[in-house]
Amino acid sequence: MAFPIHRARRLRKNENIRRLVRETSLSVDDLIYPIFVEEGKNIKVEIPSMPNIYRYSLDRLDEELEEVAKLNIPAVILFGVPKHKDDIGSESWNDEGIIQKTVRYIKKNYPQLYVITDVCFCEYTSHGHCGVLKEFDVDNDETLENLKKQVVSHAKAGADMVAPSGMMDGMVKAIREALDNAGYKDIPIMSYSAKFASSYYGPFRDAAGSAPAFGDRRSYQMDFHNSREALKEVEFDIEEGADIVMVKPALAYLDIISKIRDNFNIPVAAYNVSGEYSIIKAGEKMGWIDGDKVIYETLVSIKRAGADIIITYFAKDIAKILNR
Ligand code: PBG
Ligand code: ZN
Repeated sequence: MAFPIHRARRLRKNENIRRLVRETSLSVDDLIYPIFVEEGKNIKVEIPSMPNIYRYSLDRLDEELEEVAKLNIPAVILFGVPKHKDDIGSESWNDEGIIQKTVRYIKKNYPQLYVITDVCFCEYTSHGHCGVLKEFDVDNDETLENLKKQVVSHAKAGADMVAPSGMMDGMVKAIREALDNAGYKDIPIMSYSAKFASSYYGPFRDAAGSAPAFGDRRSYQMDFHNSREALKEVEFDIEEGADIVMVKPALAYLDIISKIRDNFNIPVAAYNVSGEYSIIKAGEKMGWIDGDKVIYETLVSIKRAGADIIITYFAKDIAKILNR
């Protein structure tokens, strides 16, 4: 008994009724803004493939932080670009390292911002891989030992949350134990649980100077042909103590976000990655799409798929769009 009794268009008649029946909302409350901090002085360099996204040195970072705070974006996630790299990435657990200094600076001067640190080694290793190399592959268990040092150093600096992105097996368990043993039992872990070996990371690797010197990351990041495996990864991470799980990238992986949302009762984050940003910005620049509208529609799709949290380079753009 459908038509003419039922007419779906009745509930689309005008904006008021559309607002009332809307199933998904997007708010500035959902957003985490990624920031790249480079060691050095007086640096503000635009990333060529990411219009309006910059690498800053700490002495120039106020410009960015003031805007993020003014727009009421709740959180930032920090990526460090160090001067000193070696084969194990030891600079990443230096208490005077770029991330540690930046965390202390933000917590002191912008206490309203929630500071999350990305926890990995690829920006810190001379070879650009996400851990300690053994015969041209990343050694999982040795990398865990260094991860523990890195998270404790971030926690000591005052990080509110840590986000391991290296896709090492057992990383959440190792980090939880390290934090607890060092007295940081209340610092949550947002795990990059289902991080796929993706070509959408290209612009980020320019930004962070973290492209692998040889090979690729397919022996540790997930094969994008798989989705059941993502559920397995999430299950392991929850058992190991993850507080929030993440899917990355977001857009080509909305099915994964949706499955995780349906199968687990834990907050789900989605990382709307660099390549996804660049494509939309390029289309906007060419005049081929309405950038603001496409940004809004895209971020709503990530929420509709089931994400609670969106990590996005569009955070400032969308905060301005939502405030209009
Ligand atoms: C490094 C890391 C990457 C991103 C976040 N952390 C890239 C990679 O795995 O090479 C990607 C972010 C983006 O593309 O926006 N572990
Ligand atoms: Zn990495």
